[in-house]
Amino acid sequence: MGGMEFNKIFAAILVAGIVAMLSGFVAEKLVHPHKLKENAFPIEVTESVGGGAAVEKKAEPVLALIAEADIARGQKLSKACAACHSFDKGGPNGVGPHLWGVVGVTKQNISDFSYSGALNANGENVWTYAALNEFLWNPKKYAPGTKMSYAGLKKPEDRAALIAWLRTLSDSPKALPNPTEIAAEEAKLMPPQVQEVVEEAIETIKDVVEDAPSN
Ligand code: HEC
Repeated sequence: MGGMEFNKIFAAILVAGIVAMLSGFVAEKLVHPHKLKENAFPIEVTESVGGGAAVEKKAEPVLALIAEADIARGQKLSKACAACHSFDKGGPNGVGPHLWGVVGVTKQNISDFSYSGALNANGENVWTYAALNEFLWNPKKYAPGTKMSYAGLKKPEDRAALIAWLRTLSDSPKALPNPTEIAAEEAKLMPPQVQEVVEEAIETIKDVVEDAPSN
């Protein structure tokens, strides 16, 4: 075998190696976003990951759901509150204060009701949509020491529906959540793991777009 012949074979092997490497790289790029898609959902699994820090449970954000929420369903769900709350304008108070016009008002503002004082312990003193969401998800967690003995509404669609219905109990209903409020709520309540996955996914997509051949 002449020197020329050897060089040709060597070059062929080299090229084959490079092609194999590149295709592996490309495959990795293409498959990666798919992997992330699968990881993004089972958030609960990470709550008890061995050795890892436990993830604090938070209410799911619901502000984005309120505009389209099922108001009739919200009214039905309010039966769970009616044992303690009247929804009529002007009251009366029951075990809890009456809730006419509660969306967007100062907390604990029904003058003839004797509150625990715990509702604004967290520094928020207005019943914003976001505050109502967290409170109704888990009253005792949102306002430790509250007199409201109610376990909470765990389904985000239920809280959205109930809050959408509460909003209608007013002579001039508060404006629906705006994009800024929706984004602020999502940033506050999104678990850090999800934030990380979302950021990684964005980086991966950017890489793929940058690496893609331009023709
Ligand atoms: C077992 C009785 C009980 C039930 C059931 C109950 N609440 Fe209450 N709620 C209370 C009491 C008592 C307070 C006053 C809490 C305090 O002072 O800490 C309260 C306070 C509130 C407040 C704050 C009002 C204000 O003036 O600041 C809101 C909002 C509220 N409840 C909504 C609801 C909704 C919506 C439901 C149904 C999903 C519900 N509650 C179910 C007893 C109840």
